[in-house]
Amino acid sequence: MRPVTKINLGCGDIHPPGWVNVDGSNRAWIASRLPWLDRFLVRTRVFPPTQFSAQVVYANLLQRFPWPDASADAFYLGEILEHFTREQGAFVLGECRRVLKAGGRIRIRVPDHANFWHQYIEQYQAIRAKPKTDWSLEHTKWTAMYFETICINRPKPWQSMGHFHKWMYDEVSLTLTLDQAGFADPQRRRFHDSDIPGIADVEARDDLIMEAVVSEHGHPVDGNPSATARRDTVAP
Ligand SMILES: C[S@@+](CC[C@H](N)C(=O)[O-])C[C@H]1O[C@@H](n2cnc3c(N)ncnc32)[C@H](O)[C@@H]1O
Repeated sequence: MRPVTKINLGCGDIHPPGWVNVDGSNRAWIASRLPWLDRFLVRTRVFPPTQFSAQVVYANLLQRFPWPDASADAFYLGEILEHFTREQGAFVLGECRRVLKAGGRIRIRVPDHANFWHQYIEQYQAIRAKPKTDWSLEHTKWTAMYFETICINRPKPWQSMGHFHKWMYDEVSLTLTLDQAGFADPQRRRFHDSDIPGIADVEARDDLIMEAVVSEHGHPVDGNPSATARRDTVAP
């Protein structure tokens, strides 16, 4: 049987067999290149235990990927694209496209920006509809989450790198981003519903999930792939 190369980018602590699991954190570097040192530092309680194993491939995704053109069948990006600026994200997707074979698939899971603010608006409107004596600041938890958690850089030198969000996507912007990166037929997909075998091994949560393909010709289907027929829209 033909071997299938599936690459799990920004794997964090999800690295199942059957996937090439890649991460760029300092901890992934130590655990994969100097596992004895990692074990020693854990034993001496300098580091907390890590999920990274010596099998994880260390790579900074903001540099050219360490695989040749047209060599992989699938990429999975789970909660990683939003850690890059739009420009960095475009670079990462360009690299995925370069490395994928014709017919290869990319699957991306990101927080749904539209859904995030939809929840804020819903709660705001419910409070606004009450008499002023019943107003509260409950709905501002979304504002706090956005400004004080999601977008704040909290350096953790031995753990994740860039562990804060620099951009957010919705179904429309992610579709157009995939189009612009040269992928064909981007479609919103349900949790674990995929044309990539074994997706449940890497897909830990539901969210905004999209899948697209590198067309047989290596080019967008007709230069305007947004125009391709859409699969039934999946409700956010
Ligand atoms: C939120 S975690 C996602 C983990 C996992 N994929 C999941 O679905 O839960 C993001 C991961 O991306 C990695 N990462 C962030 N920037 C990176 C970069 N430039 N190169 C490689 N990995 C990066 C972090 O080290 C972290 O493990």
